[in-house]
Amino acid sequence: MKIIVLLGAPGSGKGTTAEKIRDRLNAVHLSTGDMLRAAVKAGTPTGKTADGYMKKGELVPDDVMVRLMEDRMEQGDANALYLLDGFPRTIAQAELLEQSLVARNGRIARVVFLDAPRDVLIDRLTGRRICRSCGMNFHVRNIPPKREGVCDACGGELYQRPDDNRETIENRLDVYERQTSDLIARYTDLGLLTRVDSAQGAEALAEQVANIVGQG
Ligand code: AP5
Repeated sequence: MKIIVLLGAPGSGKGTTAEKIRDRLNAVHLSTGDMLRAAVKAGTPTGKTADGYMKKGELVPDDVMVRLMEDRMEQGDANALYLLDGFPRTIAQAELLEQSLVARNGRIARVVFLDAPRDVLIDRLTGRRICRSCGMNFHVRNIPPKREGVCDACGGELYQRPDDNRETIENRLDVYERQTSDLIARYTDLGLLTRVDSAQGAEALAEQVANIVGQG
């Protein structure tokens, strides 16, 4: 099991980049945000716990995340390449991931830190629109759909995530600074981190990340 961690603040482009490069790398894209949103929609116990935290832009408690990821890794393919988007987000989650990989003869091949200024992040998140049917991601100005409110890929309805309002976005960015940015130093010390400027176009960014990951 080989892991690429996409690390970065909300809006840095983790999900967009993972979707653009996963087929080329023959990788599995694992987004903890998507897993949690699916659990909320299905009304599972994990979803019921996570919902309130997600609405406020707070992190879901580590013990819940640890169970969720352990379950997912149990079903994992030992030979696969995984693109982790949104996990780990705390030192405790990073430690769990490392222990879990040791037990599975796996390793973190690279951590790609997607770095962009706060004003860029806010602009991206306030403008994000997502397809209700296929999950494709758009931005009202940067990556606009051909027809307003309609998905280019499947014709589904585009919606705005409930945590993509200005107040919750500001809180998510503060939470990232407080609870997740420590991971940058950790992975730098381990010699695993590569920083990329994510305030560039989505295609160019994906190309750069794919090249970095291809060398890992
Ligand atoms: P999650 O869904 O992971 O949200 P997030 O971290 O806030 O990240 P985003 O999905 O908002 O941003 P992204 O970096 O993926 O950007 P994207 O590519 O979509 O988590 C949601 C919640 O779940 C958390 O708040 C927390 O409560 C909980 N949670 C999840 N994981 C957890 C964990 N491990 N522990 C505890 N709690 C957890 O792009 C954003 C927009 O910008 C889009 O419109 C896109 O089209 C546009 N865009 C992207 N790249 C570019 C580019 N290069 N140029 C121009 N526009 C771009």
